[in-house]
Amino acid sequence: MQQRVSHTADEADTPDLRLRVLLPNGGQFEPPAAVGYRVMELLRFSGVPIKAECGGACVCSTCHVRIPGAWRDLLPPPSDEELAKLDEIPTADESSRLACQLVMTEELDGLEVEVQPDSIILQSNWMAG
Ligand code: FES
Repeated sequence: MQQRVSHTADEADTPDLRLRVLLPNGGQFEPPAAVGYRVMELLRFSGVPIKAECGGACVCSTCHVRIPGAWRDLLPPPSDEELAKLDEIPTADESSRLACQLVMTEELDGLEVEVQPDSIILQSNWMAG
């Protein structure tokens, strides 16, 4: 399935959805989102220093997030490629996903995403508690 991928905030459609982002430092905020955008892109647009080293190619495992509770049922299941990468993350569990593989839909308005410490650039103060 072809997914629309954008590369700058200027290319974003009018944001009409929201993410709910929980940070490793305990902070949370609700950045704008739009249909067709990957969660990893939306985190970057909103200033979260997520590593995402491969830029969304599903080869680096550095965009690890957890999806709480019922939100998991609204997401498409991970592909075999995503599952293989999740297996490489020692702290991953059944709530783990790769943010670059999650594409916003209208049904996901308000999606809660817990950014994991292993996916934040270390120099960042977003890690501090
Ligand atoms: Fe590399 Fe998601 S950005 S796996």
